[in-house]
Amino acid sequence: MNNLDTNINFIKKTPKVELHLHIEGSLEPELMFKLSKRNKIEIPFKTVDEIRSAYNFTNLDSFLKIYYEGSNVLITEEDFFDLTWEYILRCKQDNIVHTEIFFDPQSHLPRGVSFDTVIKGIHKALKKAEKDFGITSKIIMCFLRHLDEEPCFDVLKQACNHKDKIIGVGLDSSEKGNPPVKFKRLFEQAMKEGFITVAHAGEEGPPEYIWDSLDILKVKRIDHGVQCLNDEKLVNKLVHAQIPLTVCPLSNIKLCVFDKLENHNLKKMLDRGLRVMVNSDDPAYFGGYLNKNLIETSKALNLNLEDIKKLIENSFKSSFLENEKKEKWLEKIN
Ligand code: HPA
Ligand code: ZN
Repeated sequence: MNNLDTNINFIKKTPKVELHLHIEGSLEPELMFKLSKRNKIEIPFKTVDEIRSAYNFTNLDSFLKIYYEGSNVLITEEDFFDLTWEYILRCKQDNIVHTEIFFDPQSHLPRGVSFDTVIKGIHKALKKAEKDFGITSKIIMCFLRHLDEEPCFDVLKQACNHKDKIIGVGLDSSEKGNPPVKFKRLFEQAMKEGFITVAHAGEEGPPEYIWDSLDILKVKRIDHGVQCLNDEKLVNKLVHAQIPLTVCPLSNIKLCVFDKLENHNLKKMLDRGLRVMVNSDDPAYFGGYLNKNLIETSKALNLNLEDIKKLIENSFKSSFLENEKKEKWLEKIN
């Protein structure tokens, strides 16, 4: 077997963790079509192929427009169950044993879909995943950063009724022009309520947004963070504190953060000692689930087996899994 086959084999057979996955971004065109019929919701596409060919993005905002449109077909608890269950089947296929998923209540509430409907559908599928496949999970609720801070407090209040299901809060949507400091009071309140905090930062936005996510929002992980290499002092801090950066290579290519995978900075980040790992972000829109992200990235950046091991080890270490389970998996993969 040559090195490439060895690497692909290793990626496929090793138990893995995913830490950056928007459940609404796992809505495949086939299910979008099915739900649009089931719920009698119009979508601006006639065929599945037409949906797929609309997925040509130039930046984050051009993607978000289509992503929020797609989410419009999600109405009932059953829809959120089906959506989540389809992602779980992909997890099983890719040998993901633990996943931490984001959801965006604010893209559903204004359409008259209740918080309880969303969280119950997602949670039911995740419980079944644990029972049927032993796949464990955590749920993180994201706030849409293009919206004002004030209405987010009501969303946080609703999340407080589901502390048994939601472990933390995050920040997603349009990054540029929506700095972390905009949500300072909200994140303070969330922490008071016992939620862990994370935030998308340094995807398209500047290194300052990573600094402020750490200093002001007190995040435990940075989602994306690929712009950190433009700030040497920041890199030193991230390395020293081993702050996890949940990198999403295929997403970065689709949204033109890098022009091609060969020019992605993941290998540089690894070599600097940053705690990075690979994730799929919005796999239905960006062309691949976790294994495909790992395999394509390994090929494009000539990653060796040690690099791949490190990425997978980092993902377990960076998860919000209970320490005992974390140790058990780390032992197993080594
Ligand atoms: N960035 C910001 N917001 C998002 C993303 C992303 O990659 N995916 C879904 N919402
Ligand atoms: Zn994301």
